[in-house]
Amino acid sequence: MKAIVQDKYGPPDARPELREIDRPQVADDEVLVRVRAATGRWAWDIPAVIRFVARIGVRLRKPRPDVLGLEMAGQIEAVGKNTEQFHPGDEVFGWGKGALAEYVSVPEDQLALKPTNLTFEQSAVVPFSGFTALQGLRDKGRLQPGGKVLIIGASGGVGTFAVQIAKAFGAEVTGVCSTPNLELVRSIGADHVIDYTQEDFTENGRSYDLILDMAGSQSVSEYRRALSHDGTLVMVGSSGSASSHPYIRGLGRWFSALVLSVLGRQKLHGMLSTRSQNDLVAVKDLIEAGELTPVVSAYYSLSEAPEAIRHADEGHTRGKVVITV
Ligand SMILES: NC(=O)c1ccc[n+]([C@@H]2O[C@H](COP(=O)([O-])OP(=O)(O)OC[C@H]3O[C@@H](n4cnc5c(N)ncnc54)[C@H](OP(=O)(O)O)[C@@H]3O)[C@@H](O)[C@H]2O)c1
Repeated sequence: MKAIVQDKYGPPDARPELREIDRPQVADDEVLVRVRAATGRWAWDIPAVIRFVARIGVRLRKPRPDVLGLEMAGQIEAVGKNTEQFHPGDEVFGWGKGALAEYVSVPEDQLALKPTNLTFEQSAVVPFSGFTALQGLRDKGRLQPGGKVLIIGASGGVGTFAVQIAKAFGAEVTGVCSTPNLELVRSIGADHVIDYTQEDFTENGRSYDLILDMAGSQSVSEYRRALSHDGTLVMVGSSGSASSHPYIRGLGRWFSALVLSVLGRQKLHGMLSTRSQNDLVAVKDLIEAGELTPVVSAYYSLSEAPEAIRHADEGHTRGKVVITV
C-alpha cells in the first residue's frame, strides 16, 4: 500500500515521502481502516524538553521508519477477533498514528461512527482540533452560558471549532485573528472580532470570563489585563514569544501562569488535550445537531502530503488542511 513515511522523528531533519510499504495486519484488539482522508501534523509546539523526553520513548518502542498521520476518516475493512464496536463497511472517523496511508490498524476506542452529515474529508479534520476545543472550553475553561469568551487564533484549526462550540454552549464569543480571516470568523458565529494586526485586545479595556489562547503571542501578565477578576486563561498553543528560548518555549508561560495563579482569583492554566472516545462522540453529536461544521480550506492528495504538512505548520491555516487518500 502507499503511505507517507519519514525516517527521522521531526522537523527540521524529517523528509516525509510517499513509499510503497506492507499493508498492516489487523491485531486481535484492533480494527483495520481503509483511510479515505487524513491529516498529518506530527507535533504540537510543546516545549522542546518535553518533546525530547517523549521522543526517546517513541524511539525505544517503535521501529523506524514511521508512517505519519494523526487523524482520519474511512471505512472499516476488517475487525480483530476481540473487538465488538464496529463491522466491516462501517464509516468511521478518529485518530491513529500512521493514518497517512491507504490502511491503518487502530484500537477501536480511537474511533466513532462518522457524522452522517459530513464527507470523509470534513470528518477527518475533526478529532484533535474538535476535542481540544471542547476540553479547553468545557473542562479547563468551565464555560457557562452567557459567559464572555475571547478566542485567540479563532480562524485556525482549533479556533474554528472553539468559536462554534462556545456559541453552542451559549457564550458571547469574540474571535481574534488577522485581517483576511475576520469575515470567516464572523461567518462561523463569532459575535465580535478583533484584528490583531490593528488592535491589542489587552489594551482596549474589555475583559472576558474566559480566554482560550491558541497563539501564545503575548505574556501571561498581558493576558491577565483582558481577564475579569475571577476569569480563566487556558493556554492551548504554548509557543511563547519569539524571543523565548526554543528549549523552554511555552514552559516559561506555563510557569508564570502557575506563579501568577497564586496571587489572585484568576485561574491560569496550560492544557494538553486528552484523547477521548467520549469527547469524539460529543463533538460528533454537535456536528449532527447542526451546531458545528468543520472549516476545511485546502485539499491535498496523498502524494502532496509533505506540502500539506508544511502548510499546516506555518501557523496561519484557515480552519484545517486535509489530505485525500
Ligand atoms: N495543547 C494541546 O493539547 C494542543 C492541541 C492542539 C493544538 N495545539 C497547539 O495550539 C496551537 C493552535 O493550533 P491550530 O491547529 O489551531 O493552529 P493553526 O491552525 O495554525 O491556527 C493558528 C491560529 O493562530 C492565529 N495567530 C497567529 N499569530 C497570531 C497572533 N499574533 N495573535 C493572534 N492570533 C494569531 C492564526 O490566525 P491568522 O492566520 O489570522 O494569523 C490562526 O488562526 C498550535 O500551537 C498547536 O500546536 C495544542
